[in-house]
Amino acid sequence: MAHIRIRNTNERIENEDQVLEFLTKQNVLYEHWDASKLPEHLHNKFTLSDDDKSAILATYDEEIREIAGRRGYKVWDIVALSENTPNLPEILKKFEQVHTHTEDEVRAITAGRGIFIIKGDEETGYFDVELTVGDVISVPEGQPHFFTLMDNKAIVAVRLFIEPAGWVADPFEDPSFVK
Ligand SMILES: [Fe+2]
Repeated sequence: MAHIRIRNTNERIENEDQVLEFLTKQNVLYEHWDASKLPEHLHNKFTLSDDDKSAILATYDEEIREIAGRRGYKVWDIVALSENTPNLPEILKKFEQVHTHTEDEVRAITAGRGIFIIKGDEETGYFDVELTVGDVISVPEGQPHFFTLMDNKAIVAVRLFIEPAGWVADPFEDPSFVK
């Protein structure tokens, strides 16, 4: 279940209903997939073969097709990051910059943890969404954000796109953002 931290006030929201209410108000889609469906050997595996990736996509085929049909996604894949990923520090450095996209950014977490930092409405400012297994999130198109890993430095997620070319990061220079 996702937890929220509002950066300006350090307020945390950890109650499921309140998390959903907060994210809905910020136009962020928040749903769940059943984490227990995933085969046991993939629960904490972060270096994935092509067969592993296919197995994850097959496990969630119904969920993927349902959300794709509802929201117009046409292609999907698996992203896996961990300390075994070559150049992880460089990859994270690139990730950790506020940016926008011309389509929404969807992630369904199937192993590990991750965190989206998102610019909310004027009153709220930036907030963190700490994601765990089973969480599905979509950052709306044009909404400034970035993604990074948490202390465990490991995540596997399903990504869905309307078109692969739509997922180009446009840097968003924001003097109001403080790390
Ligand atoms: Fe992004």
